[in-house]
Amino acid sequence: MEREKFGSRFGALVVIAGSAVGLGNIWRFPYMVGANGGAAFILIYIFFCAFICLPIMVSEMLIGRRAKTNARHSFKAVAPDKKRFAHLGILYILTPILVLSYYCVIGGMTISYFFESFGTSLPKGPWWTELWSVIFLLLTGAIVFGGVRKGIERFSKVMMPALFIIVAIIAIYVMTLPSAEGTTTTARDGVAFLFKPDFSKVTGKTFLAALGQAFFSLSLGSGVLLTYGSYVNRKDNLIKSSWQIALSDLIFAIIAGCAVIPAVFALKADPVAVLTANTDSALVFNILPDVFPKMPLGALVGVFFFFALILAALTSSISQFEIPVAYLSERAKISRKASTVIIFSVCLVLMSLCAFRGQFINIFDAICANWLMPIGGLLAVIGVGWVMKKQDVLDELGSDGRYKRGKKFAAVLFFLVRYVAVAGILIVFIAQIFNK
Ligand code: PHE
Repeated sequence: MEREKFGSRFGALVVIAGSAVGLGNIWRFPYMVGANGGAAFILIYIFFCAFICLPIMVSEMLIGRRAKTNARHSFKAVAPDKKRFAHLGILYILTPILVLSYYCVIGGMTISYFFESFGTSLPKGPWWTELWSVIFLLLTGAIVFGGVRKGIERFSKVMMPALFIIVAIIAIYVMTLPSAEGTTTTARDGVAFLFKPDFSKVTGKTFLAALGQAFFSLSLGSGVLLTYGSYVNRKDNLIKSSWQIALSDLIFAIIAGCAVIPAVFALKADPVAVLTANTDSALVFNILPDVFPKMPLGALVGVFFFFALILAALTSSISQFEIPVAYLSERAKISRKASTVIIFSVCLVLMSLCAFRGQFINIFDAICANWLMPIGGLLAVIGVGWVMKKQDVLDELGSDGRYKRGKKFAAVLFFLVRYVAVAGILIVFIAQIFNK
C-alpha cells in the first residue's frame, strides 16, 4: 500500500503547525509563565526552542521522512543494524497515548466553556467532566477515522489563522484593560511581568519547566513528527519548514500570554499569588470569562474564542491519536478503523482516570512534558547525530535540490544536533536530579 502524503508543502506546514499550536500555547504556556516567574522563563524558553528544540524538530522529521513508517519502527528503518536502539521506538507509541489521556480532559473543559460562553451556566462535577472529555475524545477519534489527508488537512487550514486573529484581538484589549476596583496593580504591570526578566527567581526547576513546555508545545519527542515526517514530501526543505513552525508556535504562545497574564494583574487583588500559588492549570479558563463581559462585543468574542480553541485543541489531539493508530494498523495488519477503535478504548480508560481524579492530569503532564518527551527528543538527536549514516542525513537535508546553498547551515545544524541538543537536555535532567 502506498503511504499517504500531504498534498503540498503548505498543507504539511499547516498540519504540523496544527499539531504544535493547541492547548499547549493557550492553556499551558500562560500558567507556566505565571508559575515560573514570567519574563526570565520566557527567555529560557526561547533559548531552548532555538538551540535544542529546533534541531530536534528537524531530526525527528528527517528520521520520519527517511523511514517512511510508523513512529515505533522509524529507528529500525533508518539504522537497521542497531537493534537495541530500535527497541526504544516504543516510547513514541506510549507517550502520545498518555498525553492524549489528559489532553482530552482539558479539551473537554474547553467544550464546556464554549457552551457557557452563550451565557448559560452548566452543572459541574466529575461525571460532567467525564462527559465533556468523552465528547472531545469522540470528536478526535471521528476525525482520525476519516484518514490523514481528508480528515486532518482540510480541518487545519481554516481554523489556525482564525484562532490567531481572535487571540491577538483579545491580547490587545487585555493589555489596555482598566484595573478593577480593589486592585493595586495594572495591566501594564502584567506586561512588565512578561517582558522584564528577573533572574533572581530562576532555579533548576525553571529550566526543566521551560524545557518541558517547549517540548510539549512543539509536539516534540512524542512520535508526532516522526509519523508526520513520513507523510512529508521529499522535495520539501525540512529546516525551513521546522523554523517556520517553531516561530509561529512561539508567537502564538507569547500572544496567548499577553491575553491572559495582564488580565490577572488588572483584575485580581493579589496577582502574583494567583499566578504562583496555583500551578493553577485552569488559569486561562478562570480569567478570560471575567474579561469578555468587559470587552466591546465581548460575548461574541468569547464564543469565537472557545470555538477556535476547541478546533486548535482538536488539530493537536488528532496528531496524538494518529501515532498509535498508524502504528497499530501497520503492525497488526488491521484496518485503520479497527485500530482507531482499539486506541480509543485504551485512551478512554486512562482519560477517565484523569476526569475523576484531577491530580492525575498534573502527574501525567509532568511525566510526559518534563521527562518522556525530552527523552524522546534526545533519542531522535542521538539517532541523527550519532547512529545514522552521515551520508543519509545529508541526503535528506539536501533532498530539495538546493543543498549547496544550505551547506553551511547544515554544518551548523549538525553541530547543534550532535552536541548542543544532547548536552542541553542531559544538563537540565542532571541538574534536576541533583537539586532534590
Ligand atoms: N503541541 C500540542 C499543544 O501545544 C500538544 C501536543 C503534545 C501535541 C504532544 C502532540 C503531541 O497543544
